[in-house]
Amino acid sequence: MIPGNKIVYIIGFMGSGKSTAGKKLAASLGWAFIDLDRKIEEQAGKTIPRIFDQDGEDHFRKIETQVLRNTESLTETIISTGGGTPCHGENMDFMLATGITVYLKLTPAQLTNRLLESTGERPLIKNIPDNQLYGFIENKLARREKWYGRANIIIEGINLDINLLHSIVTSYSDKSITTNL
Ligand code: S3P
Repeated sequence: MIPGNKIVYIIGFMGSGKSTAGKKLAASLGWAFIDLDRKIEEQAGKTIPRIFDQDGEDHFRKIETQVLRNTESLTETIISTGGGTPCHGENMDFMLATGITVYLKLTPAQLTNRLLESTGERPLIKNIPDNQLYGFIENKLARREKWYGRANIIIEGINLDINLLHSIVTSYSDKSITTNL
């Protein structure tokens, strides 16, 4: 049984597959899907790289927090968040209070392999040379774990089995579970 207002937040580092998993989980549950980054872009009227360039990261974080708060009245919705969403503006407390949080956990090496393909689209890593990307990810992930690690459900994100995620989410009661595939 899914408690509360039936919202599942997918959290995790950039490149962990949150949007793909969120869309598949929503389809499998027959729920709606929201990608928080796209909502931020709609609200700001510009892309995330442009928000970072023109207005700075602090401004981006303000919009991100506001857009997240606006999801409160939704029900039966999967929300995939940005990699930094849980780590700013008491957003993790908000998500824990209003839905179920699922952390898609990947290792720094797995994330590096996936992000090497797409550094240019992501403001936080676009200026990092390829040979320094692993170190950057390892460091930032270690600092972010204190938020990510509070998720209700922690699941290995690489080769994620959506049927398994579906059954874990629907059978979730009120205690934290850690699942390793
Ligand atoms: C960010 C992750 C991005 C996006 C922004 C900041 C972060 O989302 O919200 O560039 O702080 O890790 P993805 O995790 O979807 O790439």
